[in-house]
Parts: sequence; structure tokens; C-alpha cells
Amino acid sequence: MNPDIPDIMARADATIAATYKRFPIALVRGEDCTLTDAAGKTYTDFLAGIAVCNLGHCHPRVTAAVSEQARTLLHVSNLYYTLPQTALAEWLTEHSFADRVFFCNSGAEANEAAIKLARRFFYEKGEDRHRIISAEASFHGRTMATLSATGQEKIRKGFHPVLPGFDFVPFNDADALRDAIGPETCAVLLEPIQGEGGVRVPSPDYLASVRRICDEAGILLIFDEIQTGIGRTGKLFAHEHFGIVPDIMTLAKALANGLPMGAMLAKEWAASAFGPGVHASTFGGTPLVSAAAFATLTALMAENLIEGCRAKGAYFKERLLWLKDRHKAVVDVRGMGLLLGMELETECETIVTAAMAEGFLINCIQGKVLRFAPPLIIREEQIDALIDCLDEMLP
Ligand SMILES: Cc1ncc(COP(=O)(O)O)c(C=O)c1O
Repeated sequence: MNPDIPDIMARADATIAATYKRFPIALVRGEDCTLTDAAGKTYTDFLAGIAVCNLGHCHPRVTAAVSEQARTLLHVSNLYYTLPQTALAEWLTEHSFADRVFFCNSGAEANEAAIKLARRFFYEKGEDRHRIISAEASFHGRTMATLSATGQEKIRKGFHPVLPGFDFVPFNDADALRDAIGPETCAVLLEPIQGEGGVRVPSPDYLASVRRICDEAGILLIFDEIQTGIGRTGKLFAHEHFGIVPDIMTLAKALANGLPMGAMLAKEWAASAFGPGVHASTFGGTPLVSAAAFATLTALMAENLIEGCRAKGAYFKERLLWLKDRHKAVVDVRGMGLLLGMELETECETIVTAAMAEGFLINCIQGKVLRFAPPLIIREEQIDALIDCLDEMLP
């Protein structure tokens, strides 16, 4: 049986919670940067599952690792040791500032762990510090704690009372951050580059100032690298562009190239506030997903995809700036590596739909910003084809 797209749509719309406004296609296959729908139409994917499939779809190394692990051991409780989880934690600590990793299943869960660790850290020290400062227009997830930490009222609407203890400051304003810190502040939580908020890159010295301010105040700095991590911006982690490190970092999305995995990484002195029984996840770091993540990270390095991301990102940005020169509807082009945004003066949803009809999957955020986050293996001719398509469409 090969149901057609209207059939799949009707059945899905009748049964699945209506939390997503979906486009009218049903995808059945992915390879490289190409997705195929149930009618056989192909699309070049400039979204990669929202910055998830950084290696492209069904990367052979990940597929092989998943197949092998699925034949060997899918799941055991975190009451026991496993090699895939251990090897992954070693890889992550060797390639980052962190000494310890807590594994979970999503970005929101990774941020939940970071929020809990920051509060627990000061609890263990006997200090009543529990407030967390994050940025306006930030996005940290949809669970109650992470939406409480998210600086967008539309995400929090209808869920009040949200969790107390969160304060918001404008992104990229170090003075506002300094002024917002009080005796109860335990941490600052920031995306190094805001993703859902509109692909916003801070000024070069902002994060170093934030680091200094946190050190002076004796509070923790948490970077949410869920969207920016795993090579997406042209470094393994985006904070590497800014020459500083956080105390805690959260990852998810591209970590296992499409399998659900989140991680919270921390320095030893902070992580030590999480002892046995303090936090847990049944599926966190299960052997299957850990094997996928390990294969993802080793492929990222072996295939020089981060270097490639820098070169392709520079090329893509130059082509978007070419569009900006030609179309007055384009008001800004921004981003780093292959996390790029092009802001229009008008709503961009119609452009997304028209590009889809032409075989390109792109995305619109905050109403007027086209976001591009293709697999890091995207080729220049695929970028050129999208640029030609947008050149035809833009007023
Ligand atoms: C920066 C950031 N943090 C957290 C999240 C939440 O991740 P998840 O949807 O896996 O819970 C996202 C998802 O878009 C994100 O971009």
C-alpha cells in the first residue's frame, strides 16, 4: 500500500494533536540534501529538520552505527554502564570545555537539566540563589521551565502561571545584564546566536562581557547551543567564535543527526552538584542513540564538515547579499556558517510555499525572516539553484 499525500494528510489531521501548522506534503525518503515526498517529487532541504541533520539525511556512517547497535543492544537502564554512552561522553568532554555530561532526549530536557543544575549548585553551597536571567526573543523550549526561561510572550501565552524565577534582558546589551543581576541570581542562560528569535548574532565583544559579568557576580554562565552546536556555525560550538567558554552548555538537535538526544555538559565543579538520585532520564544516553551520536561526531570530523561549513556558509551569505542588492524587499542578511537569516520587509510565508513548489524547503521565523539551515554537506550548485529561485520570486 502506498497511500497518496491527501490520504496521509486527512488521516494525520484526524488523529494527531494539531500543534503544528504543516505544509501539504508527506515526506517518505531522505538522502544527502534531498527529500522525496509520497508523490515522488524531490526537494533540496535547506532546513535539515531545523538544524538537525547536519550530515545530511541517512548518512551512511550513522545508518551503519544504528543498524549495528540495533542488532546488539538497544536499551538498558542508566543503573548500568554501557560503552556507547561512555565513549560519547569521552568524545564530548575531549572536544569541549566540559568535564561531565548528562544525557537526555531533547533540547528542552537539556535546558531543564541546566536550570536544575544551576539551582542545585547554589543549594549545595547553602546560598539562596535561584533566579535565572535570559534574553528577550530567546527560545529555550516548550516544557514549563524552559518556556518560563523563553523571552517570547507568544510561547508563554495561556500557560500562566509560568515558573517563577526568570528575568529577561535585551540580547546584546551587557549593561542591561549587569543591572539585572541581584542577590538571588544564580545563572545567565543565553543562546550564543539566537536561532528562533530571528538568527541574531551578537556584537563580537558581547559574550566576553557577559562572561566577565558572570565571573564578577559569582554566577553561572549557561550557553544553549542546541541550535548552534555540532558545527552549524562553522565551529564545533558557536561560543568558540567568541573566545570564551561557559560553565554549562546544552546540546540536542544535530547531536545524533536525527535520533532524539540531548545533553547537558558542565565543568566538574558545577556538575558535582548532581549526585546520585538528583536528576535522571530513562532513555537518556541509551546505547542506540549514543552510537548514532558517536558516529555523527566522528563523521563530522573525519569528513572536515566544519571547515566545509565555514566555506559554504561564506559563499551562501555572499549570494544572499547579492539578492539583497537586487531586491528592496530584503532588508538584512545575517548569521554565521550555515545558520543564516534573510529578513524581508514583508511576511515571508508565501515565499516559503512558492519555494516548496519549486523543490526547495526553506523556513520562515518571526514572520519576516527566512531561515536557512541546510545540511553542512550542501553544494554550491544547490545554493545557486535556490538563489536563482528566490531571485525570481522576490519583489
Ligand atoms: C536554542 C534552542 N533551545 C532549545 C530548543 C528546544 O529543543 P527541543 O525542541 O528539542 O526540545 C530549541 C529548538 O528549536 C532551540 O532552538
